[in-house]
Amino acid sequence: MARILHGVTGSIAAYKAADLVSRLTQRGHEVHVVMTRAATELVKPRTFSALSRTPVHTDLWDPAENRLTEHISLAELPDIVIIAPATANTIGKAAGGIADEILSTTLLAVTVPVLIAPAMNVHMYEHPIVQKNIGILKGIGYTFVEPGEGYLACGDTGKGRMAEPAEIVTAIEARLAESGE
Ligand SMILES: Cc1cc2nc3c(=O)[nH]c(=O)nc-3n(C[C@H](O)[C@H](O)[C@H](O)COP(=O)(O)O)c2cc1C
Repeated sequence: MARILHGVTGSIAAYKAADLVSRLTQRGHEVHVVMTRAATELVKPRTFSALSRTPVHTDLWDPAENRLTEHISLAELPDIVIIAPATANTIGKAAGGIADEILSTTLLAVTVPVLIAPAMNVHMYEHPIVQKNIGILKGIGYTFVEPGEGYLACGDTGKGRMAEPAEIVTAIEARLAESGE
């Protein structure tokens, strides 16, 4: 059993993240969800708090959190971090060291393994800057759970569909085993 920090970003695949949280929780893991503002436009935080039975974090500046450095305490909590789905924007921010909201700020402060499951339109995924950013993150040791090919929500067909939750669970547990958790 591991403590997992699960970042959810503003991709249409955010609905699949609910299934992922459910699967991880059922397997005995403790899941803490951090959502970007864009993610909260697509799925309500309540969905994740109900499935994980832990509070969901959405705002670096939320006075209700009543902690001065929420991002640091969050970063110290997990054995592993998964961002699923990961947008082109969040991947770009991570590669550039940008920390302008709760997820990107927390990500900079973590010292545990990080897994990324990208989800985006095929042209976004194939864009040279997105591929360059993925290369940067792989270069610093982030593990990518590759997106699949097929029908995309935008109507295009190609690579960009977020990996299936079962595959992401396997990747998380394999990475945990590698690091002896
Ligand atoms: C309905 C909808 C679906 C979207 N799906 C994706 C997606 O799958 N991948 C992606 O990279 N961006 C997607 N976007 C654009 C992102 O939400 C946008 O770039 C946003 O700034 C991402 O912010 P975040 O990375 O902080 O979550 C979508 C936008 C909308 C309105």
